Amino acid sequence: MARQMSQDTPKETVKAKTAPASRHPYADGSYKKMLIDGKWVDAASGKHFETRNPATGDLLATVAEGDAEDINRAVTAARKAFEGPWSKFKPYERQALLLKLADLVEKNFDELSTLDTLDMGAPISRTRGTRQRVLGMLRYYAGQTTAIHGETIQNSLPGEVFSYTLKEPVGVVGAIIPWNGPLGASIWKIGPALAAGCTVILKPAEEAPLAPLRLGELVMEAGVPPGVVNIVPGYGETAGAALASHPGVDKVAFTGSHVTGQSIVRASAGNLKRVSLELGGKSPDIVFADADIEAAVPGAAMAVFSNSGQICSAGTRLFVEQKVYDEFTGRVADFGKKLRVGNGLDPETQIGPLVSEQQLERVSGYLNIGKQEGARALAGGERLTEGDLAKGYFVPPTVFADVRDDMRIAQEEIFGPVISAIPFRDMDELVQRANATMFGLGSGVWTRDVSKAHRLASAIRAGSVWVNCYQTMDPAVPFGGYKMSGYGRESGLQHMEEYLNVKAVWIKTA
Ligand code: NAI
Ligand code: MG
Repeated sequence: MARQMSQDTPKETVKAKTAPASRHPYADGSYKKMLIDGKWVDAASGKHFETRNPATGDLLATVAEGDAEDINRAVTAARKAFEGPWSKFKPYERQALLLKLADLVEKNFDELSTLDTLDMGAPISRTRGTRQRVLGMLRYYAGQTTAIHGETIQNSLPGEVFSYTLKEPVGVVGAIIPWNGPLGASIWKIGPALAAGCTVILKPAEEAPLAPLRLGELVMEAGVPPGVVNIVPGYGETAGAALASHPGVDKVAFTGSHVTGQSIVRASAGNLKRVSLELGGKSPDIVFADADIEAAVPGAAMAVFSNSGQICSAGTRLFVEQKVYDEFTGRVADFGKKLRVGNGLDPETQIGPLVSEQQLERVSGYLNIGKQEGARALAGGERLTEGDLAKGYFVPPTVFADVRDDMRIAQEEIFGPVISAIPFRDMDELVQRANATMFGLGSGVWTRDVSKAHRLASAIRAGSVWVNCYQTMDPAVPFGGYKMSGYGRESGLQHMEEYLNVKAVWIKTA
């Protein structure tokens, strides 16, 4: 999906090439424009691309395809708004807007979550299930607008010079997001940017632009002034790269692969824009023999199978203490086999399709590599093609046993529902092996021994350590990476700092 491009001049009425099966009013095969300076406009080039449902192949929409020229227009609008009307908004006024937006998102949440399910495949139970978190984020950032403050600093020159700091918005922000949770990712960028007083150009992923575009309508409905939020869908190599290198952009907030993260850092060098990166992982999830196994089995399984493994912090390297290794991996495999794979619109579905043919190829490639490397598939291991599943990109929960640390399936991010289960014996060796990855995003520890939990919490080089749980998130708790998983933090007070500059002011008093 999403890779077929067309050069035709788009019309309001561009018709689906294949009849859309979905009756969703926003994903009925119609044409979607981009949001620049408060107006819904065509791409300057007239180009557009298709977005399809990865469960069925049905066309959902054709979307105006932004590239460098559209990014230019959006940056100009965002700059004008930043220096003009938006700079006059008082913190409580930005707060009121964010709260209004939160109310609108709440009112339209079923529609927005359905769009994510249609566009990227995640089960409706999952996309609906993010409600609390998504609304919580918006309301958290609304709260932050009135909490921004500098400091009075008691310097060593009392009576001579008085000094204090001011926090100011960094300016125009380019936000580039992936497809694995489009609604949440959009809000995770727009929320703090607006709270800090920045303006934004959001570039959704080409695979799943619909919920971000619909969110753009709600942003306008909330009364956010023109140019404060611009949404320019398009491909990474064109629209994304233009945003990352644009001299009029002050900061890029990126979520996606580490390879693209590296190219964004290079592209940012021209004007030394500020960059924050939330990248991939190969996170260790560690199960000790003394763990509550009844909780650890579903916990470790869903740490990977949720969203078909398309989560940056998925606990894909499952380290299991040798004496329970066979029993535990067998139970995780049985758990995986019982999960219902299917179209995400079915409320019973637990595992949806992968997002695209590209991801299917990538994950299938790793399934073959795992077998060639000598890993043993206890569950899954093969694409599903029975009946309707043949129309989509379905891979079942897969558990590989007999995995060694040096195998590619133990080192590389697969981004599919694939667990690489690795046995371990003693703690010192475990710490070193758990850290032997270029990534450092998430990690999990399952144990009843509180001293083991604390010891690992400090020894693991990763931005999050979950003990007896996995992937728990909250708007107030910072999330982000060590090493090649990126830098900068999202959520929490640190997140606001990513969008603020510090200015020191000196007043001579003597
Ligand atoms: P990607 O990192 O290429 O795409 C993410 C976003 O970056 C999209 O909006 C894309 O259009 C944009 N982009 C791509 N190239 C760009 C460039 N040169 N300059 C600026 N923006 C650019 O990820 P992709 O290709 O969708 O997936 C490939 C692999 O990346 C996955 O299999 C997975 O391993 C990893 N990934 C990790 C994610 C995470 O949350 N950590 C999210 C998505 C992908
Ligand atoms: Mg890509």
